[in-house]
Amino acid sequence: MEQLKAKIRKEGRVLPGNILLVDQFLNQQVDTELLLDMAEFWYERFKDKKITKVMTIEASGIAIAVFVASRFGVPLLFAKKYSSTNVTRESHEVNIYSYTKQVSYNVAISKRLLTSDDTVLIIDDFLANGQALKGLLDLCRSAGASVAGVGIAIEKAFQNGREAVKDFNVDISSLAIVEALDAETGEIRFSGDEVKGEERA
Ligand code: G4P
Repeated sequence: MEQLKAKIRKEGRVLPGNILLVDQFLNQQVDTELLLDMAEFWYERFKDKKITKVMTIEASGIAIAVFVASRFGVPLLFAKKYSSTNVTRESHEVNIYSYTKQVSYNVAISKRLLTSDDTVLIIDDFLANGQALKGLLDLCRSAGASVAGVGIAIEKAFQNGREAVKDFNVDISSLAIVEALDAETGEIRFSGDEVKGEERA
């Protein structure tokens, strides 16, 4: 999606550790016009799938998913993070390990709110190592809910997120696919960009 890629080029910053900072328009301050466009893109892509709920995970996915749920005219459901390991009978729970943050946390969703009657569109800001997405897919599986697709704003293709969820056979629609980040030069290379100089095969 060109609007998102242009915004990342203009306002994104590359930090050491292969981190792309997008707090100016996505993760902390939110560009609502851009999010409307993103929601429209996914609506066109998934509008025939009879989506009953849009699902995401705290925290950064929520802002994006609000716009998407509104566009589809369905509720937004977000999985909640818990540091404790308490399992309650009322919730589906899963443990997620974040390679980026090197912490693991529990995520829960109420059994009342996600059921086998649901057809879900999962939305998140980043697909990095795929553990958050795998957790959401596991929650849907536990609930017996169908997953019609996944919308990701920024996929870091050099990490193994897609590979981590390939067994779920789910349709992933990423709006901006980042092939490489360079913290020294600040370069952000997207899928389809021409490779320069000695990198060229
Ligand atoms: P994974 O979910 O794909 O496995 O990724 P990983 O565990 O490696 O990263 C987890 C957290 O780090 C996620 O946030 C994810 O959005 C964020 N993240 C990963 N790569 C980047 C990046 O390049 N830039 C930014 N800004 N964030 C990145 P989270 O734990 O869900 O926290 P929250 O920010 O949503 O509260």
